[in-house]
Amino acid sequence: MKKNILRPTLLLLASLGIASVTLQGCNKGKPAAETTTNTAENASMNIKTETFGKTKEGTEVQVYTLTNQQGVQVKITNYGATVTSIITPDKNGQAGDVVLGFDNVEGYQSDAFLKSGPYFGAIVGRYGNRIAKGKFTLDGNTYTLATNNGENHLHGGNKGFDKVIWTAKPMPEQNALQLTYVSKDGEEGYPGTLTTTVVYTLTPDNELKIDYTATTDKATPINLTNHSYFNLAAGRAPDALGHLLMLQADRYTVVNASLIPTGELRSVAGTAMDFTKPTAIGTRLAQVEGGYDHNYVLTGANNSSKLAATVYEPTSGRYMEVFTTEPGIQFYSGNFLDGSLTGKGNTNYKQHYGFCLETQHFPDSPNQPEFPTTILRPGETYKTSTSYKFSVKDQVPTQ
Ligand code: GLA
Repeated sequence: MKKNILRPTLLLLASLGIASVTLQGCNKGKPAAETTTNTAENASMNIKTETFGKTKEGTEVQVYTLTNQQGVQVKITNYGATVTSIITPDKNGQAGDVVLGFDNVEGYQSDAFLKSGPYFGAIVGRYGNRIAKGKFTLDGNTYTLATNNGENHLHGGNKGFDKVIWTAKPMPEQNALQLTYVSKDGEEGYPGTLTTTVVYTLTPDNELKIDYTATTDKATPINLTNHSYFNLAAGRAPDALGHLLMLQADRYTVVNASLIPTGELRSVAGTAMDFTKPTAIGTRLAQVEGGYDHNYVLTGANNSSKLAATVYEPTSGRYMEVFTTEPGIQFYSGNFLDGSLTGKGNTNYKQHYGFCLETQHFPDSPNQPEFPTTILRPGETYKTSTSYKFSVKDQVPTQ
């Protein structure tokens, strides 16, 4: 094992110019490359904190860097609890950034970004995805939410959890970053003061784990997810259409023209929606009007963590597995990216440059009694967990 990780680790660290930070930061000064056990003590890592610039409102925000013994590096800012960068090795040990984003907070507040609204890497909430006409009835009361997507409410409204500053607490013993946000009663129209905590943990085996918890003082809908856009080729392919995607789902929620579920769960069998076997995203994209932007119903959903999706990128050999406790996953093929944004490394984000796998409860659940409930009540704790695990493979996985 030592031999396997040593070369890619050093290549990666050297190419990132972070070797000295990482080697000093881990395990009380022991070189990272000598670390082969994953005890709690050995997992203690230095978490770097740097400025991410000032928001338009004049508040300085930070970016935190988690690094593990294999040189994988994840950056998260407390603006929107946003993942801004995930650096992983390819099959030759060369480092590359596999998510879309910007180098400073200005990028996330630019007019072009706010206009196109891609939510790169952010935690979206209080309710991820759409609520029809921004209305729902709960315990006999009708609530009206901000409408920011035509007549519908999308991703928490005008100022959702992606656009607020979270309170960050590095947890070096767990190699984790804890972020907390208190959403006020009435914010964007939602009932109840909701206290949300998101913990990002980078494990020794290259898994970025996201643990969500929340409590409320009034009954409220809640549906939290992370909105990262992946491109595992890390700049070496013109778009993400060659990625082979597998979704552990044999049904999806059918939507109307404004992307609100009709209530029907339809089989994917024999259609362009079928990703039960690894298939390139681009193969049948043209057959799906507007591109993929659908909630898939995960098989075996029972609140325990299960494999939801795998993605393989043939040129780099990068492989990503997604595990979640959630019943659904929104597969979005970056249809609204239009080249108006240029991010890290001067990369222009044209249509389908990245794709999202947003683990979630189903869209519009507060208006769909047949869907699993998204209502959190006082005294209960909302608890979900999702992880993205990175590795490399020589060939297309057969499963
Ligand atoms: C989700 C939605 C899409 C789009 C993106 C953000 O994936 O389902 O329709 O709004 O977020 O651009």
